[in-house]
Amino acid sequence: MLIKRPGDIKTSDITDEKIYHQRRAFLQAGSRAALAMAAGAVLPGLMFPGEAAAQMAALPFKKNTRFSTDEEVNSLKDITRYNNFYEFGTDKTDPAKYAHTLKTDPWNIRVEGEVENPADYQLEDLIKESQLEERVYRLRCVEAWSMVIPWVGIPLSTLIKRFKPTSKAKYVEFTTLHDPVQMPGQKRGVLGWPYVEGLRMDEAMHPLTLMAVGLYGKVLPNQNGAPIRLVVPWKYGFKSIKSIVKIRFTETMPNTSWNLSGPQEYGFYANVNPSVDHPRWSQSRERRIGEFFKRKTAMFNGYQEQVASLYSGMDLQRNY
Ligand code: MTE
Repeated sequence: MLIKRPGDIKTSDITDEKIYHQRRAFLQAGSRAALAMAAGAVLPGLMFPGEAAAQMAALPFKKNTRFSTDEEVNSLKDITRYNNFYEFGTDKTDPAKYAHTLKTDPWNIRVEGEVENPADYQLEDLIKESQLEERVYRLRCVEAWSMVIPWVGIPLSTLIKRFKPTSKAKYVEFTTLHDPVQMPGQKRGVLGWPYVEGLRMDEAMHPLTLMAVGLYGKVLPNQNGAPIRLVVPWKYGFKSIKSIVKIRFTETMPNTSWNLSGPQEYGFYANVNPSVDHPRWSQSRERRIGEFFKRKTAMFNGYQEQVASLYSGMDLQRNY
């Protein structure tokens, strides 16, 4: 993010509108089985290793319309070919090319800190014991682009209730896997590794906060943060940490990777706020990937009604 600026989005990164609508019509016509075929049909002979069939296994889920936007979703291609995942390189196309080296099964999540049930939890068990939901959310990146993504996941609050934080727990810290063999981008010092992020407890417990394990009805592709990543739709995308191996409950505010790397540019809260510019560019508008014209950015990425009360009395110019 420090490297790429909003103006750096190439025209080749923006899907041709005609193809986009043809593809949408095709996707809408089909069931989930058709969708699996569509992935192949849309990208004939162009599958990246991260899009191997094993990664595209279907997931059982219930649609959550209450928390879903009815805006047009981005194509599978946009969502899986235009990524930020610095563990695999800093170019938007790197994760799709290189993230196949990540082994996502078996996967454990260590839960520790201020919590009554600390343990190494097997992801498979957490998924089996949960009701997966599909939620279509907007994702607004700090680089002033956005997408609409049909996630499949577990509300974070469901998991937190199971882990039982103590009364001392005020924050939750998340850590990405640290393994430079599987994640070769970690051999370069573009960020301090492992990637870490955090939320205040009330943000973590908010019903919109999701732990995604899939998208487009299928298991999460590696480049999108497999096998489990956070999704906090009212915050800039960098809060939505990928490939999580540790969840720690803390009394004090945890460090976050981007705040450590550029404290003047990336705050702990990172709420989408069109009236607080990034020091090097405006946040008032955004480019929806797949569209040509920019659109206005909404406060809290359009989730103001649901989340503004979390920040009442806080100066959001200072707490950026
Ligand atoms: N998580 C890790 N571990 N490493 C990263 O580089 N990039 C963040 C976030 N989570 C990142 C990460 C940023 S800047 C964005 S915008 C989103 O992931 C992008 O998610 P997507 O590629 O699934 O769209």
